[in-house]
Amino acid sequence: MLSAPAMSSDPTAQARPLAATRPEAPLAGSIAVPGDKSISHRALMFAGLAVGQTRITGLLEGEDVLRTAGAMRALGADISRDGVDWLVAGRGIGGLTEPTDVLDMGNSGTAARLLAGILASHPIFSVMTGDASLRRRPMQRVITPLAQTGARFAFREGGRLPLAITGAPESMPLTYKLPVASAQVKSAVLLAGLNARGETLVEEPEATRDHSENMLRHFGATVSVEVAGEGRVIRLQGQPELRAADVVVPGDPSSAVFPLVAALLVPGSVVTVRGVGLNPLRTGLFATLLEMGALLSIDNRRVEGGEEVGDITATAGPLSAIDVPPGRAPSMIDEYPILAVAAASAAGTTRMRGLSELKVKESDRLSATAALLAGNGVRVEIDGDDLIVHGTGARPPGGGLVETHMDHRLAMSALVLGLATANPVRVDDTAFIDTSFPGFVTLMRGLGANFA
Ligand code: S3P
Repeated sequence: MLSAPAMSSDPTAQARPLAATRPEAPLAGSIAVPGDKSISHRALMFAGLAVGQTRITGLLEGEDVLRTAGAMRALGADISRDGVDWLVAGRGIGGLTEPTDVLDMGNSGTAARLLAGILASHPIFSVMTGDASLRRRPMQRVITPLAQTGARFAFREGGRLPLAITGAPESMPLTYKLPVASAQVKSAVLLAGLNARGETLVEEPEATRDHSENMLRHFGATVSVEVAGEGRVIRLQGQPELRAADVVVPGDPSSAVFPLVAALLVPGSVVTVRGVGLNPLRTGLFATLLEMGALLSIDNRRVEGGEEVGDITATAGPLSAIDVPPGRAPSMIDEYPILAVAAASAAGTTRMRGLSELKVKESDRLSATAALLAGNGVRVEIDGDDLIVHGTGARPPGGGLVETHMDHRLAMSALVLGLATANPVRVDDTAFIDTSFPGFVTLMRGLGANFA
C-alpha cells in the first residue's frame, strides 16, 4: 500500500499564462474527465466520520480535494492511496481529534464550509484559513446556523477566514431554513447534525445538489427528504453509527462541460465524455444547451455507486439564444461562465437570470464573466443579477487577455472561448485549473485543442 502523496505545490506559487487559438481541424475523441469534486470532498469527510475502512474509486485528485484529505488527516482520519483508489479509515462520529496546526483549505469554499460543520460539532479548537481568493469569500452563511449548536467562532471582519472554532461540548441539533440556495450551507448543517442528539432539520427554498443526503444514507444514516414546492425539507437523525461504505465517484459534469462546449463551438467536431454524473440537480446546463439547439446525446445511462451516469456526445452545430430562468441556477451554478461562452457564439441575445450567488464564488464570477467576454469583442451587460450576452451568431472576435482572478472555471471558459474566436484568447494564469480539473490542458490538446 502506498501512502497518499503530499499536498501538491501551491498553485498560486507561479502563474501559468496560456493562449488558445482556433484549431485548423475539428476536435475529436472520446475521453473521461476526473471525478466529481462535490462527491469527492464528501466521500473523504463521511468516510473519516465512519467506523471501518472505506475504499474510494475515482476520487478527484485536484488541489481542492487534496486540501480536504489533508484536513481530515490532521483531524485523525487515516487516509492513504492504494493504486488508483483511496482508503480512509474513519474515527467514528465525534471521534475526530484536535489538529495541531492551522487547517489550510487553499482555494476551496466547499472544503472550508463543509468542514466548519464537522469542526463545530466536535469539542476541539481549530483554525481554518485559505488562499487570497478563499479569504475573501463569505463564511457568515455557515457561522450563523452553526453558532446555534453551541460552538463559538472568531473571525475577520465580514465573517472571513481565518476562522477560529471552539466546537460545542455537546452539539445541539439545528432547525434551519436556508436564506440562500446553497448546498454547502445545507451540508454544513447536516454534518453538524451528525454529532448532535436528536433531529436536525434543514429547509431549502430551492432544491440544491443532494450529494450529502445520498451519501449519508449510503453510510447508514437515517435521512428523509420531503419535496416542498420548489424546495425540500431534509431531516437527519443525529448520532447514527456511520459504517464504512465504498464509494465510486462519477466523472464531474461541471468539468465535462468544457470539452463538450468546445466541441459544440468548433465546426465539424464530435467529442464524447464517458461516465459523466447525471444527478438531475447538477445537469441544468445540459438542459439549457439542448434548448439552445445543441446536438447533445446521452448513451449508456447506468447507475454507478448510487449516482446516475452516462456517456455524453457533443456534435458541433449552430446555437440560438435563450432566456435562462432564475430557478435553474442551483442546478447549473458553476456552469454560467461556460454558458456565457456558448452564448457569445449563439444567434441572438441570451439572458441568464438570478445570478446573485455568482458574486461569491472563487471570484466575482458575474463581473469576471462579463469582463471575459467584453475583452474579446462580445457585447455583454449586467442588469441587476442578470447577465445578458449579445451573441454574434458566428465567430466572436477574440484577441483579448483574460484575467482569471484565481478562478479555475474562468480560466477553462476563456480557453474554450479562444478555440471559437477569430483571434487567439490569452489567459493570464491557468494554474488554478488544477483545483478541479488536473490534466485539463493535456486532455484538451489530445482532442485537438490549440493551446500554447
Ligand atoms: C458545491 C456547492 C455549490 C458549488 C460548489 C460546490 C458543493 O456552492 O458552487 O462548486 O459541493 O456543495 P454553493 O453551495 O455555495 O452554491
